[in-house]
Amino acid sequence: MRRVFVDDLRPGMRVGRSIVDAAGRVLLTAGTVLKPRYIQYLRQRGIAAVDILDDLAPDVVPPDVVSPQTRMALTAEIRNLGEDLRQELNRTGARSLRRWADRSLGPLRSAVAAVVDEIVSNPQALLHMQEIRLHDEYTWGHSVDVCILSTLMGTSLGYDVARLRELAMGAVLHDIGKVTIPESILKKPGPLTEEETAEMRQHTVRGFEILRQSEGISLPAAHVAYQHHERWSGGGYPRGLRGEEILEFARVVAVADVYDAMTADRVYRKGYSPERALRNLREVVSDWFEPRMLQALVDNIAVYPVGSLVELNTGEVAVVVSVRKGAAERPRVRIVEDASGRRPERPRELDLERYPGLAIVRSLRDVENQADAGQQASPGGA
Ligand SMILES: [Fe+2]
Repeated sequence: MRRVFVDDLRPGMRVGRSIVDAAGRVLLTAGTVLKPRYIQYLRQRGIAAVDILDDLAPDVVPPDVVSPQTRMALTAEIRNLGEDLRQELNRTGARSLRRWADRSLGPLRSAVAAVVDEIVSNPQALLHMQEIRLHDEYTWGHSVDVCILSTLMGTSLGYDVARLRELAMGAVLHDIGKVTIPESILKKPGPLTEEETAEMRQHTVRGFEILRQSEGISLPAAHVAYQHHERWSGGGYPRGLRGEEILEFARVVAVADVYDAMTADRVYRKGYSPERALRNLREVVSDWFEPRMLQALVDNIAVYPVGSLVELNTGEVAVVVSVRKGAAERPRVRIVEDASGRRPERPRELDLERYPGLAIVRSLRDVENQADAGQQASPGGA
């Protein structure tokens, strides 16, 4: 199977794995042959990538860090909690959130625990490619991805299960303050004005206020909402803290948040490949993050995800077949195109760990990406 972005889908391709939306509804079952209107439908439903069964790699299955069911359950819980909170705020103002917290936090905590348990029981797992989501589901899908990624990072930092759960709660709630931001600002397609930016930045303070008065959220977890836009080198918001003035959980989530924003598809551009996003983090904005946290991220990302296409230094094109944790840049690959662009008679597989002369020069998604993302502003701002 290969994971193909919706924009790259073509009629006639066969769905390799059933496509399910965030509410658990099956949109297309495995085996369905795509038609133009199905592709249109997937795009409307906000699905950004589909696992396609083709003859390049019919036996290759992109592995999941967390099962789709568990991921979906958490997405549903955080969305319910957010919508419930929005209504409660409209009803009572911020005076009493007690009832909201009693109602909503328990189910969220169970869903978070399930995610943490799966990650802990699968220590070799790398994050391959995130679930894709549409722009207006951005906040909740993003919250879940940031939760999963932060938890993975926490395992590399040596956290025990109790600490991972606390981190994961903070991470999934990091943007909860956005329920107080008007939709006109949240979904504005163009750049924000100065006042709008100031309002948007309030999501940190308000998120902290909401969580601080919620029983059952630890203070360090609540601080993730407050501090996830602070930067290691200073210059972040809302308070311009720096270095160890920022609590550790917030330093973890800050990295996961920016990485996920870079790799997510948005209305105005396709997400960066993991390779390009990691390069950006290391070269362009590295002083935003504590080096230890950046390393914890790098350790958990499949820079060339299973099922993706890459170009080798020989000019050949290959599909990634498997990746070992600790050797993410040297996966096992299957050659699907020779240097002159021809399909080989019998596809050859190479374990790049055993061929030091061979290397991946680029991930092929970036080739098309540069053309349409080139003039866009760099992602990861708000
Ligand atoms: Fe945020």
